[in-house]
Amino acid sequence: MFTRVRGTQDILPQDSFSWQEVEEGARRIFSLYGYQEIRTPILEKASLFNHSLGETTEIVQKQMFEIKHSKDHLVLRPEGTVPVVRAFLENNLNKTKDAGKFYYIGPMFRAERPQKGRLRQFHHIGAEAIGSISPYLDIEIISLSDRLLKEFGVKDYEIVLNSLGCSKDKAGFAEELRSRLKGRLAKLCPDCQKRYKRNVFRILDCKNAACKKIISSLSLTCDYLCSECRSHFESVTRGLESIGISCQLLPSLVRGLDYYTRTVFEIRHNRLGSQDALGAGGRYDNLVSRFAGGDTPAIGFAFGVERLLLARDHHCVPCARCLIYVIPLGQKAEEKCIQLLHSLRSNQIAADMDYSGRSLKAKMRQANEANAGFCVIIGENELAKGVVTLKNMACGEQEEVKQEELIEKIKNL
Ligand code: HAM
Repeated sequence: MFTRVRGTQDILPQDSFSWQEVEEGARRIFSLYGYQEIRTPILEKASLFNHSLGETTEIVQKQMFEIKHSKDHLVLRPEGTVPVVRAFLENNLNKTKDAGKFYYIGPMFRAERPQKGRLRQFHHIGAEAIGSISPYLDIEIISLSDRLLKEFGVKDYEIVLNSLGCSKDKAGFAEELRSRLKGRLAKLCPDCQKRYKRNVFRILDCKNAACKKIISSLSLTCDYLCSECRSHFESVTRGLESIGISCQLLPSLVRGLDYYTRTVFEIRHNRLGSQDALGAGGRYDNLVSRFAGGDTPAIGFAFGVERLLLARDHHCVPCARCLIYVIPLGQKAEEKCIQLLHSLRSNQIAADMDYSGRSLKAKMRQANEANAGFCVIIGENELAKGVVTLKNMACGEQEEVKQEELIEKIKNL
Protein backbone atom coordinates (compact mmCIF):
# COMPACT_ATOMS: atom_id res chain seq x y z
CA MET A 1 0.00 0.00 0.00
CA PHE A 2 1.17 3.51 -0.71
CA THR A 3 1.55 5.78 2.29
CA ARG A 4 1.95 9.53 2.58
CA VAL A 5 5.38 11.17 2.77
CA ARG A 6 6.74 11.38 6.33
CA GLY A 7 6.08 14.79 7.83
CA THR A 8 2.98 15.42 5.73
CA GLN A 9 -0.66 15.09 6.76
CA ASP A 10 -3.97 14.21 5.18
CA ILE A 11 -6.59 16.66 6.38
CA LEU A 12 -9.66 14.45 6.56
CA PRO A 13 -13.28 15.65 6.40
CA GLN A 14 -13.72 15.46 10.20
CA ASP A 15 -10.79 17.88 10.59
CA SER A 16 -11.35 20.08 7.59
CA PHE A 17 -14.19 21.89 9.42
CA SER A 18 -11.67 23.24 11.93
CA TRP A 19 -9.38 24.31 9.08
CA GLN A 20 -12.21 26.09 7.32
CA GLU A 21 -13.23 27.81 10.55
CA VAL A 22 -9.69 29.10 11.13
CA GLU A 23 -9.23 30.18 7.51
CA GLU A 24 -12.59 31.95 7.33
CA GLY A 25 -11.96 33.67 10.68
CA ALA A 26 -8.55 34.81 9.43
CA ARG A 27 -10.00 36.24 6.21
CA ARG A 28 -12.62 38.16 8.19
CA ILE A 29 -10.05 39.67 10.56
CA PHE A 30 -7.55 40.49 7.79
CA SER A 31 -10.17 42.43 5.89
CA LEU A 32 -11.12 44.25 9.11
CA TYR A 33 -7.50 45.45 9.28
CA GLY A 34 -7.30 46.38 5.57
CA TYR A 35 -5.16 43.43 4.37
CA GLN A 36 -5.80 41.92 0.93
CA GLU A 37 -5.11 38.38 -0.15
CA ILE A 38 -2.08 37.57 -2.28
CA ARG A 39 -1.45 34.08 -3.69
CA THR A 40 2.05 33.31 -4.86
CA PRO A 41 3.21 30.03 -6.47
CA ILE A 42 4.42 27.11 -4.41
CA LEU A 43 7.33 26.68 -6.85
CA GLU A 44 9.98 29.38 -6.79
CA LYS A 45 13.55 29.67 -8.02
CA ALA A 46 16.09 28.44 -5.49
CA SER A 47 18.16 31.58 -6.02
CA LEU A 48 15.30 33.71 -4.64
CA PHE A 49 15.70 32.22 -1.17
CA ASN A 50 19.48 31.78 -1.32
CA HIS A 51 19.69 35.48 -2.02
CA SER A 52 17.34 36.64 0.70
CA LEU A 53 17.16 34.30 3.69
CA GLY A 54 20.89 34.27 4.38
CA GLU A 55 23.43 31.61 3.35
CA THR A 56 23.92 30.54 6.96
CA THR A 57 20.26 30.09 7.90
CA GLU A 58 19.12 26.54 8.55
CA ILE A 59 16.45 26.83 5.86
CA VAL A 60 18.96 27.60 3.11
CA GLN A 61 21.59 25.20 4.39
CA LYS A 62 19.50 22.09 4.78
CA GLN A 63 15.75 22.56 4.72
CA MET A 64 14.78 23.40 1.16
CA PHE A 65 13.08 20.78 -0.99
CA GLU A 66 14.89 21.22 -4.27
CA ILE A 67 13.70 20.27 -7.73
CA LYS A 68 16.17 20.20 -10.58
CA HIS A 69 14.31 20.25 -13.87
CA SER A 70 16.11 20.77 -17.14
CA LYS A 71 18.20 23.88 -16.48
CA ASP A 72 15.92 25.14 -13.73
CA HIS A 73 16.84 24.90 -10.09
CA LEU A 74 13.54 25.23 -8.25
CA VAL A 75 12.37 24.82 -4.67
CA LEU A 76 9.09 24.32 -2.86
CA ARG A 77 8.69 27.59 -0.98
CA PRO A 78 9.85 27.26 2.65
CA GLU A 79 8.13 30.49 3.78
CA GLY A 80 5.93 33.30 2.46
CA THR A 81 7.66 36.61 3.11
CA VAL A 82 10.25 36.41 0.34
CA PRO A 83 7.72 35.33 -2.35
CA VAL A 84 5.42 38.21 -1.34
CA VAL A 85 8.29 40.69 -1.69
CA ARG A 86 9.18 39.19 -5.09
CA ALA A 87 5.56 39.44 -6.26
CA PHE A 88 5.28 43.00 -4.89
CA LEU A 89 8.25 44.11 -6.98
CA GLU A 90 7.73 41.92 -10.05
CA ASN A 91 4.14 43.15 -10.44
CA ASN A 92 5.15 46.78 -9.83
CA LEU A 93 2.87 47.07 -6.82
CA ASN A 94 5.49 49.39 -5.34
CA LYS A 95 4.73 51.86 -8.15
CA THR A 96 0.98 51.86 -7.74
CA LYS A 97 0.80 51.97 -3.97
CA ASP A 98 2.73 53.71 -1.22
CA ALA A 99 2.23 50.76 1.02
CA GLY A 100 0.89 47.29 0.49
CA LYS A 101 -0.89 45.20 3.10
CA PHE A 102 -1.16 41.56 2.10
CA TYR A 103 -2.19 38.28 3.66
CA TYR A 104 -1.72 34.69 2.54
CA ILE A 105 -2.88 31.24 3.54
CA GLY A 106 -1.15 28.20 2.13
CA PRO A 107 1.33 25.35 2.36
CA MET A 108 5.06 25.76 3.05
CA PHE A 109 7.75 23.07 2.86
CA ARG A 110 10.82 22.44 4.97
CA ALA A 111 12.95 19.31 5.02
CA GLU A 112 13.03 19.04 8.80
CA ARG A 113 13.08 15.97 11.04
CA PRO A 114 9.35 15.45 11.70
CA GLN A 115 8.04 15.50 15.28
CA LYS A 116 4.94 16.81 17.10
CA GLY A 117 4.21 20.26 15.65
CA ARG A 118 7.06 19.99 13.15
CA LEU A 119 6.15 18.90 9.67
CA ARG A 120 7.69 18.89 6.22
CA GLN A 121 4.55 20.30 4.67
CA PHE A 122 2.80 22.72 6.99
CA HIS A 123 0.58 25.74 6.48
CA HIS A 124 1.02 29.42 7.12
CA ILE A 125 -1.51 32.13 7.77
CA GLY A 126 0.60 35.23 7.36
CA ALA A 127 0.55 38.95 6.69
CA GLU A 128 3.08 41.38 5.25
CA ALA A 129 2.82 45.19 5.44
CA ILE A 130 5.30 46.74 3.02
CA GLY A 131 6.27 50.39 2.79
CA SER A 132 6.35 52.05 6.21
CA ILE A 133 8.89 52.42 8.99
CA SER A 134 6.28 53.73 11.44
CA PRO A 135 6.32 51.99 14.85
CA TYR A 136 2.52 52.20 14.70
CA LEU A 137 2.61 49.64 11.91
CA ASP A 138 4.57 47.32 14.24
CA ILE A 139 1.79 47.82 16.77
CA GLU A 140 -0.84 47.06 14.13
CA ILE A 141 0.94 43.86 13.09
CA ILE A 142 1.34 42.58 16.66
CA SER A 143 -2.23 43.52 17.59
CA LEU A 144 -3.46 41.81 14.41
CA SER A 145 -1.68 38.59 15.49
CA ASP A 146 -3.24 38.92 18.92
CA ARG A 147 -6.71 39.53 17.43
CA LEU A 148 -6.36 36.46 15.20
CA LEU A 149 -5.51 34.25 18.18
CA LYS A 150 -8.60 35.51 20.01
CA GLU A 151 -10.69 34.82 16.91
CA PHE A 152 -9.27 31.26 16.72
CA GLY A 153 -10.07 30.62 20.40
CA VAL A 154 -6.43 30.20 21.48
CA LYS A 155 -5.79 31.10 25.12
CA ASP A 156 -2.79 31.30 27.44
CA TYR A 157 -0.26 32.29 24.81
CA GLU A 158 2.69 34.56 25.45
CA ILE A 159 4.02 37.25 23.12
CA VAL A 160 7.78 37.73 23.41
CA LEU A 161 9.35 40.80 21.88
CA ASN A 162 12.77 42.22 21.09
CA SER A 163 14.46 44.74 18.82
CA LEU A 164 17.53 43.74 16.83
CA GLY A 165 18.14 47.33 15.77
CA CYS A 166 19.36 48.45 12.36
CA SER A 167 22.11 46.59 10.41
CA LYS A 168 24.80 48.48 12.29
CA ASP A 169 23.25 47.63 15.66
CA LYS A 170 22.91 43.99 14.63
CA ALA A 171 26.59 43.84 13.71
CA GLY A 172 27.46 45.42 17.08
CA PHE A 173 25.24 42.92 18.90
CA ALA A 174 26.93 40.01 17.05
CA GLU A 175 30.37 41.35 18.01
CA GLU A 176 29.32 41.77 21.64
CA LEU A 177 27.92 38.22 21.72
CA ARG A 178 31.14 36.79 20.28
CA SER A 179 33.29 38.57 22.80
CA ARG A 180 31.11 37.44 25.71
CA LEU A 181 30.98 33.83 24.50
CA LYS A 182 34.67 33.59 23.67
CA GLY A 183 35.79 32.29 27.04
CA ARG A 184 33.01 29.65 27.11
CA LEU A 185 33.36 28.36 23.56
CA ALA A 186 34.54 24.91 24.66
CA LYS A 187 31.39 24.44 26.75
CA LEU A 188 29.04 25.08 23.82
CA CYS A 189 27.66 22.13 21.80
CA PRO A 190 29.60 21.24 18.59
CA ASP A 191 26.90 22.88 16.43
CA CYS A 192 27.13 26.12 18.39
CA GLN A 193 30.92 26.08 18.12
CA LYS A 194 30.47 26.23 14.34
CA ARG A 195 27.68 28.83 14.70
CA TYR A 196 30.04 31.05 16.73
CA LYS A 197 31.88 32.07 13.56
CA ARG A 198 29.25 31.58 10.89
CA ASN A 199 26.16 33.05 12.53
CA VAL A 200 26.49 33.72 16.24
CA PHE A 201 22.78 34.60 16.65
CA ARG A 202 21.81 30.96 16.02
CA ILE A 203 23.45 30.08 19.37
CA LEU A 204 20.65 32.01 21.08
CA ASP A 205 18.07 29.60 19.57
CA CYS A 206 19.94 26.43 20.54
CA LYS A 207 17.83 23.88 22.46
CA ASN A 208 20.87 22.16 24.06
CA ALA A 209 20.63 22.49 27.87
CA ALA A 210 24.29 23.52 28.35
CA CYS A 211 24.06 26.20 25.64
CA LYS A 212 20.77 27.47 27.09
CA LYS A 213 22.40 27.79 30.52
CA ILE A 214 25.30 29.78 29.12
CA ILE A 215 22.92 32.08 27.19
CA SER A 216 20.81 32.82 30.25
CA SER A 217 23.94 33.59 32.28
CA LEU A 218 24.88 36.34 29.77
CA SER A 219 22.07 38.58 31.11
CA LEU A 220 21.57 40.19 27.70
CA THR A 221 20.06 43.67 27.42
CA CYS A 222 19.08 45.98 24.56
CA ASP A 223 22.08 48.29 25.20
CA TYR A 224 23.43 47.80 21.68
CA LEU A 225 20.53 49.77 20.12
CA CYS A 226 21.33 53.19 18.59
CA SER A 227 19.18 56.11 19.76
CA GLU A 228 16.88 55.98 16.71
CA CYS A 229 16.22 52.24 17.05
CA ARG A 230 15.82 52.58 20.80
CA SER A 231 13.19 55.28 20.42
CA HIS A 232 11.41 53.25 17.66
CA PHE A 233 11.27 50.26 20.01
CA GLU A 234 10.06 52.39 22.93
CA SER A 235 7.19 53.66 20.76
CA VAL A 236 6.29 50.08 19.90
CA THR A 237 6.25 48.86 23.51
CA ARG A 238 4.43 51.99 24.74
CA GLY A 239 1.79 51.68 22.01
CA LEU A 240 1.20 48.00 22.71
CA GLU A 241 0.78 48.76 26.40
CA SER A 242 -1.70 51.53 25.60
CA ILE A 243 -3.99 49.08 23.77
CA GLY A 244 -3.68 46.44 26.48
CA ILE A 245 -1.44 43.93 24.68
CA SER A 246 1.03 42.50 27.10
CA CYS A 247 4.40 41.37 25.81
CA GLN A 248 7.43 39.91 27.49
CA LEU A 249 10.70 41.63 26.53
CA LEU A 250 13.30 39.00 25.68
CA PRO A 251 16.73 40.34 24.62
CA SER A 252 17.84 36.85 23.50
CA LEU A 253 15.05 36.64 20.89
CA VAL A 254 16.77 36.86 17.49
CA ARG A 255 14.70 34.57 15.18
CA GLY A 256 16.09 32.11 12.66
CA LEU A 257 15.96 34.20 9.50
CA ASP A 258 18.63 36.71 8.59
CA TYR A 259 16.35 39.32 7.05
CA TYR A 260 15.05 40.65 10.36
CA THR A 261 15.94 44.10 11.69
CA ARG A 262 14.44 46.10 14.57
CA THR A 263 11.22 44.64 16.02
CA VAL A 264 11.01 40.84 16.22
CA PHE A 265 8.37 38.84 18.06
CA GLU A 266 7.29 35.30 18.68
CA ILE A 267 4.05 33.90 20.08
CA ARG A 268 4.51 30.87 22.30
CA HIS A 269 2.15 28.33 23.81
CA ASN A 270 3.13 25.80 26.44
CA ARG A 271 0.81 23.08 25.10
CA LEU A 272 3.09 22.70 22.10
CA GLY A 273 6.10 21.18 23.88
CA SER A 274 9.53 21.85 22.42
CA GLN A 275 8.07 23.34 19.21
CA ASP A 276 6.32 26.04 21.20
CA ALA A 277 6.14 28.86 18.62
CA LEU A 278 2.61 29.33 17.34
CA GLY A 279 3.74 32.13 15.11
CA ALA A 280 6.42 34.73 14.66
CA GLY A 281 7.38 37.81 12.76
CA GLY A 282 9.21 41.06 12.65
CA ARG A 283 10.59 43.91 10.58
CA TYR A 284 12.67 43.29 7.49
CA ASP A 285 13.54 46.84 6.52
CA ASN A 286 16.42 45.90 4.19
CA LEU A 287 14.95 42.93 2.34
CA VAL A 288 13.10 44.86 -0.38
CA SER A 289 16.17 46.96 -1.15
CA ARG A 290 18.21 43.76 -1.50
CA PHE A 291 15.99 43.06 -4.53
CA ALA A 292 16.71 46.56 -5.88
CA GLY A 293 13.40 47.82 -4.59
CA GLY A 294 14.67 51.08 -3.13
CA ASP A 295 14.40 51.95 0.52
CA THR A 296 11.20 50.09 1.44
CA PRO A 297 10.81 49.04 5.08
CA ALA A 298 8.36 46.26 5.93
CA ILE A 299 7.03 44.05 8.69
CA GLY A 300 5.00 40.85 8.87
CA PHE A 301 4.29 37.61 10.67
CA ALA A 302 3.11 34.06 10.05
CA PHE A 303 1.27 31.50 12.14
CA GLY A 304 1.66 27.76 11.70
CA VAL A 305 -1.90 26.49 11.22
CA GLU A 306 -1.16 22.97 12.50
CA ARG A 307 0.20 24.44 15.75
CA LEU A 308 -2.77 26.81 16.08
CA LEU A 309 -5.12 23.84 15.89
CA LEU A 310 -3.10 21.96 18.54
CA ALA A 311 -3.26 24.96 20.88
CA ARG A 312 -6.97 25.66 20.48
CA ASP A 313 -9.26 24.86 23.38
CA HIS A 314 -12.33 23.93 21.42
CA HIS A 315 -12.67 21.60 18.52
CA CYS A 316 -15.12 22.41 15.88
CA VAL A 317 -18.14 20.13 15.55
CA PRO A 318 -19.15 19.66 11.94
CA CYS A 319 -22.24 21.69 11.19
CA ALA A 320 -25.16 20.06 9.38
CA ARG A 321 -23.63 18.99 6.11
CA CYS A 322 -26.92 18.08 4.52
CA LEU A 323 -30.32 19.39 5.45
CA ILE A 324 -32.44 17.00 3.40
CA TYR A 325 -31.76 13.33 2.81
CA VAL A 326 -33.76 11.82 -0.03
CA ILE A 327 -34.67 8.15 0.32
CA PRO A 328 -36.14 6.26 -2.61
CA LEU A 329 -37.88 2.94 -1.97
CA GLY A 330 -37.83 0.95 -5.16
CA GLN A 331 -36.51 1.54 -8.65
CA LYS A 332 -39.42 3.64 -9.88
CA ALA A 333 -39.06 5.99 -6.94
CA GLU A 334 -35.37 6.45 -7.69
CA GLU A 335 -36.10 8.30 -10.92
CA LYS A 336 -38.51 10.65 -9.14
CA CYS A 337 -35.98 11.19 -6.36
CA ILE A 338 -33.26 12.23 -8.81
CA GLN A 339 -35.58 14.95 -10.13
CA LEU A 340 -36.45 16.07 -6.59
CA LEU A 341 -32.79 16.14 -5.55
CA HIS A 342 -31.97 18.26 -8.60
CA SER A 343 -34.68 20.80 -7.85
CA LEU A 344 -33.80 20.98 -4.11
CA ARG A 345 -30.19 21.78 -4.98
CA SER A 346 -31.24 24.22 -7.72
CA ASN A 347 -33.14 26.03 -4.98
CA GLN A 348 -29.99 26.29 -2.81
CA ILE A 349 -31.21 23.62 -0.40
CA ALA A 350 -28.42 21.26 0.72
CA ALA A 351 -29.55 17.76 -0.11
CA ASP A 352 -28.15 14.30 -0.62
CA MET A 353 -29.46 10.88 -1.57
CA ASP A 354 -28.71 7.28 -0.82
CA TYR A 355 -27.62 5.42 -3.95
CA SER A 356 -26.97 2.10 -2.24
CA GLY A 357 -30.28 0.33 -2.75
CA ARG A 358 -30.09 -0.88 0.88
CA SER A 359 -33.01 -1.32 3.31
CA LEU A 360 -35.00 1.65 4.67
CA LYS A 361 -33.40 1.11 8.09
CA ALA A 362 -29.88 1.27 6.65
CA LYS A 363 -30.80 4.38 4.67
CA MET A 364 -32.18 6.09 7.79
CA ARG A 365 -28.93 5.31 9.60
CA GLN A 366 -27.05 6.84 6.71
CA ALA A 367 -29.25 9.97 6.95
CA ASN A 368 -28.37 10.29 10.64
CA GLU A 369 -24.67 9.97 9.90
CA ALA A 370 -25.02 12.67 7.27
CA ASN A 371 -26.49 14.97 9.96
CA ALA A 372 -29.68 15.37 7.97
CA GLY A 373 -32.40 17.53 9.52
CA PHE A 374 -35.17 15.95 7.43
CA CYS A 375 -35.70 12.91 5.24
CA VAL A 376 -37.80 12.92 2.12
CA ILE A 377 -39.07 9.37 1.53
CA ILE A 378 -40.74 8.22 -1.68
CA GLY A 379 -42.07 4.71 -2.22
CA GLU A 380 -44.81 3.21 -4.42
CA ASN A 381 -47.52 4.66 -2.16
CA GLU A 382 -46.19 8.20 -2.36
CA LEU A 383 -45.69 7.91 -6.13
CA ALA A 384 -49.30 6.88 -6.62
CA LYS A 385 -50.57 9.79 -4.49
CA GLY A 386 -48.13 12.40 -5.91
CA VAL A 387 -46.75 13.14 -2.43
CA VAL A 388 -43.56 12.59 -0.39
CA THR A 389 -43.19 11.65 3.25
CA LEU A 390 -41.25 14.37 5.08
CA LYS A 391 -39.70 13.12 8.32
CA ASN A 392 -38.23 15.39 10.97
CA MET A 393 -35.09 13.60 12.15
CA ALA A 394 -34.93 15.42 15.49
CA CYS A 395 -38.40 14.50 16.79
CA GLY A 396 -39.35 11.62 14.47
CA GLU A 397 -42.63 13.27 13.35
CA GLN A 398 -43.61 12.78 9.75
CA GLU A 399 -46.21 14.18 7.33
CA GLU A 400 -47.24 13.85 3.72
CA VAL A 401 -46.44 16.82 1.47
CA LYS A 402 -47.53 17.30 -2.15
CA GLN A 403 -44.52 16.91 -4.44
CA GLU A 404 -45.05 20.31 -6.08
CA GLU A 405 -45.26 22.01 -2.65
CA LEU A 406 -42.11 20.42 -1.18
CA ILE A 407 -39.63 23.20 -2.04
CA GLU A 408 -41.82 25.95 -0.53
CA LYS A 409 -42.48 23.82 2.54
CA ILE A 410 -38.76 23.22 3.13
CA LYS A 411 -37.90 26.88 2.58
CA ASN A 412 -40.35 27.75 5.36
CA LEU A 413 -39.18 25.14 7.85
P1 HAM B 1 8.94 31.08 10.93
O1 HAM B 1 9.17 31.34 12.36
O2 HAM B 1 9.97 30.31 10.21
O3 HAM B 1 8.73 32.50 10.26
O4 HAM B 1 7.55 30.35 10.75
C1 HAM B 1 6.37 30.88 11.32
C2 HAM B 1 5.59 29.79 12.05
O5 HAM B 1 5.38 28.68 11.18
C3 HAM B 1 6.29 29.18 13.24
O6 HAM B 1 6.14 29.98 14.39
C4 HAM B 1 5.57 27.86 13.38
O7 HAM B 1 4.32 28.03 14.04
C5 HAM B 1 5.29 27.48 11.94
N1 HAM B 1 6.29 26.51 11.45
C6 HAM B 1 7.54 26.76 11.02
N2 HAM B 1 8.14 25.62 10.65
C7 HAM B 1 7.25 24.63 10.83
C8 HAM B 1 7.26 23.22 10.63
N3 HAM B 1 8.31 22.58 10.12
N4 HAM B 1 6.15 22.51 10.94
C9 HAM B 1 5.05 23.12 11.43
N5 HAM B 1 4.97 24.46 11.64
C10 HAM B 1 6.05 25.20 11.35
C11 HAM B 1 8.53 32.69 8.93
O8 HAM B 1 8.34 31.81 8.12
C12 HAM B 1 8.49 34.15 8.54
N6 HAM B 1 8.26 34.22 7.09
C13 HAM B 1 7.41 34.90 9.31
C14 HAM B 1 7.36 36.33 8.89
C15 HAM B 1 6.46 36.90 8.07
N7 HAM B 1 8.22 37.28 9.26
C16 HAM B 1 7.89 38.43 8.67
N8 HAM B 1 6.84 38.20 7.93
